[in-house]
Amino acid sequence: MPRGLKHCHNFADLRDLARRRLPGPIFHYIDGAAEDETTYRRNTAAFEQYDLVPNVLAGVADIDMSVEVMGFKLGLPIFCSPTALQRLFHHEGERGVALAAEKYQTLFGVSSLGTVSLQEIGELIDTPKMFQFYFHKDRALNAAMLAMAKAARFDILTLTVDTITGGNRERDLRTGFTSPPRLTPGSFFEFMRKPSWALNYFLREKFELAQLKDHVGEGSNIAISVGDYFSSMLDQSMDWDDVAALQQSWGGKFCLKGIMSPADARRAVELGADAIMISNHGGRQLDGSRSPFDQLEEIVQAVGGQIEIILDGGIQRGTHILKAMALGATACSGGRMYLYALGAGGGAGVEKALGNLSAEIERDMKLMGIKRLNELTPDMLRRR
Ligand code: LAC
Repeated sequence: MPRGLKHCHNFADLRDLARRRLPGPIFHYIDGAAEDETTYRRNTAAFEQYDLVPNVLAGVADIDMSVEVMGFKLGLPIFCSPTALQRLFHHEGERGVALAAEKYQTLFGVSSLGTVSLQEIGELIDTPKMFQFYFHKDRALNAAMLAMAKAARFDILTLTVDTITGGNRERDLRTGFTSPPRLTPGSFFEFMRKPSWALNYFLREKFELAQLKDHVGEGSNIAISVGDYFSSMLDQSMDWDDVAALQQSWGGKFCLKGIMSPADARRAVELGADAIMISNHGGRQLDGSRSPFDQLEEIVQAVGGQIEIILDGGIQRGTHILKAMALGATACSGGRMYLYALGAGGGAGVEKALGNLSAEIERDMKLMGIKRLNELTPDMLRRR
């Protein structure tokens, strides 16, 4: 018997429900990663290398799970990483995610490949927002996106630095997934097997990449895979000088997403960035790359206290967040942790995902004997 959102108690339940509700190519776009998907699996498995060591009798009736990220107080130590194409997963798309993030007072990231305009999201919610920037070859497009983010009063600009070329996402090659979805005899059959998704997709507002559509046809009118988009549209000559220029023309809070090495983390400090997101893009780019959690300790040793460090990727449980924060992360973020939920039930699904995590974090803090997240220290962890 199909079980709905009410019965989704965790990440795995939401993923199962998304699989039942989404056409195969769309589910596999979210669920898939690069090549053998070893990095993708490692991103979560890495948390099992460490065990928590709780303290007790700490008077934990009232706990506070808020954190401060780049000057903004968040109600949860995890936020919604920017992700692409959200109206493909549910017709509410970014609108649903934005409202769920606002309800939990957490940060929401909108992608350059987003499907609702920055202006609309800016008007919709009052909580902090980040715009995730892809550095395109088309300089007029880059300038236009910066102007849109400023006009919509986005708080943080986050430059993604790990997509200099497309990852080898073999599930997408197999399913033929593109944006917008291309109707082939095979994919038509897949879409029609999920009639409620198909009705919403074909009868509601036209799918488009809201930030890009006035500059490029790719993604909105010209079907292209995400890997090919990265490889053909983004500027592979991007280097630290371009980043410094971008940061200067933005002039506000600035974050780099996709930093994995201590050396690059030091360069981010020299640049004067406000934060880095340790991320391997959910294992979707370089398979064989280490996991963010495996890299956290080295990066904290290199730059801890000089820049905020967001641990992005692999998080499925409250304890994963506590482990990252015990090693020195400022906060955590994730994509799939809310994307399956969006596919499973729109904004209500994302609320359920954030609610599940919030309940876990509260319970886990009490069981760890802490009232505030800054009481977490490395000696509350042991490596196996
Ligand atoms: C992806 C991009 C678009 O990983 O973030 O598919």
